[in-house]
Amino acid sequence: MNPDSLKREAAARAVDLVEPGMRLGLGTGSTAKHFVALLGERVRAGLDVIGVPTSEATRADAEAAGIRMSTLEETPALDLTVDGADEIAPDLSAIKGGGGALLREKIVAAASARMVVIADESKWVETLGRFPLPVEVVPFGVAPTTIAVEAAAVAAGCAGRAVLRRTREGHAFVTDGGHLILDLALGRIPDPAALAERLAAVPGVVEHGLFIGLVRTAILAGSAGIRIETARAVRG
Ligand code: A5P
Repeated sequence: MNPDSLKREAAARAVDLVEPGMRLGLGTGSTAKHFVALLGERVRAGLDVIGVPTSEATRADAEAAGIRMSTLEETPALDLTVDGADEIAPDLSAIKGGGGALLREKIVAAASARMVVIADESKWVETLGRFPLPVEVVPFGVAPTTIAVEAAAVAAGCAGRAVLRRTREGHAFVTDGGHLILDLALGRIPDPAALAERLAAVPGVVEHGLFIGLVRTAILAGSAGIRIETARAVRG
């Protein structure tokens, strides 16, 4: 099965978790896009839910699929968020933000009673860090912020370069919130919690893509079928 079919399998399993009346956080990326499409099919068949999107791209997809949309202002507490991930470790800590939506993704996840990650099995790793960690920063002072981000990594026991994300056309990539993304290539993150704390303390950093203590369940699709991993210790 090709990776896109696996992503759809994982998304289909997550749709089974949706109950009538739920307030849903809708993730961003190619796997979450399958979830939105499959949820739309259920909605058109009569399922009543409302969705809060984690990006403008997902908002457009969800609206096109016929899903009733809301905002966190109108609906500040959500029942379930379903989103993709770039990497997931056995403690269900994750790296997100490959699509640049990490800030809204984290706010929506934190407003949800439950976050479920859907992915093909290639995203499952023993230790986070092979995927460059996205760090969302304000444009002002991006040069010193980059230096401080790299120093934060060293202080947290890992080292690597932070590179400004660019579009295919070579322009700086700008997030839905008007910020920039630094991709921090570390190879291995021995202590994600320590790195998260160090990055959060850097002036100019808006958010980082380490999701720690947020993911409750991971639905992983592989050639041998679906595997479900559940967090042993959950927040709250
Ligand atoms: C979007 O900003 C990301 O967090 C995505 O959820 C993540 O990159 C996974 O994307 P895919 O489902 O496209 O692999």
